[in-house]
Amino acid sequence: MDTSNKNGGQILEDLSTSYWLSEALFTALELDLFETIENYGQEISVATLANHLCCSREALSRYLDLLIELGLLSASDHCVCLNELSRTYLLKSSPLYQGHIIRWRQNMAGDWQTLFDVLKCGKRTNFLEYDDEELENRRSQYIQAMDNVAKLKASECANLLENFSGKILDVGCGSGAMSLAFLGKFPKCQVELLDIEQILPQTRRFVVESPFNDRITYHSANILEKDWHLEHSYDLIILSNILHAYSENEAMHILKTAKELLNHNGQLLIHDFFMEHNPVKARLSDINMLLNTYNGKVFSAQWVIEQLQALSLFSSDLIPLKTDTAVILASRQEIKNTVV
Ligand SMILES: C[S@@+](CC[C@H](N)C(=O)[O-])C[C@H]1O[C@@H](n2cnc3c(N)ncnc32)[C@H](O)[C@@H]1O
Repeated sequence: MDTSNKNGGQILEDLSTSYWLSEALFTALELDLFETIENYGQEISVATLANHLCCSREALSRYLDLLIELGLLSASDHCVCLNELSRTYLLKSSPLYQGHIIRWRQNMAGDWQTLFDVLKCGKRTNFLEYDDEELENRRSQYIQAMDNVAKLKASECANLLENFSGKILDVGCGSGAMSLAFLGKFPKCQVELLDIEQILPQTRRFVVESPFNDRITYHSANILEKDWHLEHSYDLIILSNILHAYSENEAMHILKTAKELLNHNGQLLIHDFFMEHNPVKARLSDINMLLNTYNGKVFSAQWVIEQLQALSLFSSDLIPLKTDTAVILASRQEIKNTVV
């Protein structure tokens, strides 16, 4: 965070009030504000919108002024309408809809309030008990949330490769969004989607809606185990947002097992947070892992590259994406068919 030109007191005031911003966004989703404006079909007056949302006109008017200032709505002549940002990311019908991840973040507020206790005792303290139905609901919400995030990054990751064909293994695939981007870009590739058996039914729900069903297989495995019980080797192995869920030793085991599953010319694509890219977000994500996982942590690109070298793999430098994550490519051979 560049604080060089800011008043120190102002930096602290802005940090203290940053949850006001989150609450403003969460409330818009709770009100179903963006869908309501969209369904109206044209610019809507504050009075009509207040009527549709059952809100006080005066209070809503002040709140809409904030959303306009935040760039989430546009305004003209006492009316409001969606703008490019809200239309692209905040309407359920949009392919890049982000509502599920926003709600997932909202539900994490309580986890972050455990930070004080976690610092005292050195490990995660929130172990909520769920019955089977709640657990299934939570898995579904989690995969929808991860799908929203992955869709922001998947095309950019697929665009890192050129003229790719062959077999892809997507390790900890979640919704499969990463792989779907590769299937869309490279007509001669097939994908094996790997996740724990409790998640794969959720994965299937996303993937059956895609036009690539006949090029996809599923495999359940726990990647912390020694053997992932796979019969093939692969031309591309994707590790997207998975290393940060685990400790150094576990991450090293995952990298090593993935390497053994690579074809002679195969490549590893590691997509994740890295300390060198968007450091504040990477540090926040690291604390998020401290609060919510047994031993997850965000690594530096330098550490990951050193582990790849220790496995006798060539690796790219850190490739920053336009968002808060980045990519490292690795291979037994010098990396050629990429655009980097
Ligand atoms: C943060 S999500 C990332 C999903 C997807 N790769 C993406 O980028 O959107 C992590 C995924 O890894 C899976 N996962 C975590 N630990 C695993 C394990 N031990 N074995 C197999 N899959 C695992 C989770 O079930 C989840 O789907």
